[in-house]
Amino acid sequence: MQGKVCLITGANSGIGRETSRELARRGATVVMCARNRERGEAAVADVRESSGSSAVELLQLDLASFRSIRGAVETFLERHDRLDVLVNNAGLILDDRRTTEEGFESTFGINHLGHFLWTTLLLDVLKRSAPARVINLASDAHRMSRGLDFTDLMYERRKYNGWRAYGDSKLANILFTRELARRLEGTGVVTHAVHPGVVGTGFGRDGDLKGVMGWLVKVAGPLLLTPAKGARTSIHVATSEDAGEVSGLYWAKSKKRRPTSYGRDDESARKLWEHSEALVSAAS
Ligand SMILES: NC(=O)c1ccc[n+]([C@@H]2O[C@H](COP(=O)([O-])OP(=O)(O)OC[C@H]3O[C@@H](n4cnc5c(N)ncnc54)[C@H](OP(=O)(O)O)[C@@H]3O)[C@@H](O)[C@H]2O)c1
Repeated sequence: MQGKVCLITGANSGIGRETSRELARRGATVVMCARNRERGEAAVADVRESSGSSAVELLQLDLASFRSIRGAVETFLERHDRLDVLVNNAGLILDDRRTTEEGFESTFGINHLGHFLWTTLLLDVLKRSAPARVINLASDAHRMSRGLDFTDLMYERRKYNGWRAYGDSKLANILFTRELARRLEGTGVVTHAVHPGVVGTGFGRDGDLKGVMGWLVKVAGPLLLTPAKGARTSIHVATSEDAGEVSGLYWAKSKKRRPTSYGRDDESARKLWEHSEALVSAAS
């Protein structure tokens, strides 16, 4: 990975931090995104020390704010003229319905829409740096979704349920990957979605999940994969030859997997892209 620039969202914690560590260890310049400066600085110091690389930097990015997303892209482009690997790793689950700065339901807004805007703003530099890769952290939790309801993407009409919203957002990650791959055909930029396994991280632990599910996530901790093991599929897809030869696929345990039929629906993938473009431009 010498000479390559990797950009990772949600890099201060869990799978994102381990992905950053391994890419830095392999010689890449690693730009670690975090929404909180202090947590970001601590993670950068940790990754620098453990990887033995000084080419690790912090970029402040809050995916719940279009202003922050545009500012972070600008700062990145001031510092770097190439981008070889983009890992869209940040994600969360929320027990109660919250909204982003622009008023979008937060699970959809952060896990999908923020990453949609962020990625589309980075497409030019990715194409200029080809061969390049975009990796989207999805989840087998997409199997809980029975397809996206394009009449109520923000859970305004339907009763909000954190797991349902999360499953939908992870399905959105897979559909986004599919449509992005179609649009990137012939550019030398490939994209993949990843299920990291069930991993013991900060996920759902900082008060985001309450009640029985929050308790389950905590007590299950010791049974889960370590964050380093959880980062393996992201690393594989970011670096291996086989993942560079194909695009638009879903991976788990470093192997190609079939998502649900909802995740293979090209018409929904196209529709999600169009809705996302319209939502972004209405909020701009
Ligand atoms: N853990 C699992 O079992 C599992 C399974 C399947 C898929 N995944 C996916 O893997 C990815 C990484 O999750 P993880 O398990 O490593 O969880 P984690 O430790 O909670 O890490 C999530 C990261 O996302 C960041 N984030 C949350 N909201 C953000 C926002 N508005 N703007 C920017 N960054 C934001 C968090 O920042 P803060 O530290 O500031 O909150 C954190 O750095 C997620 O996309 C998740 O859906 C995880």
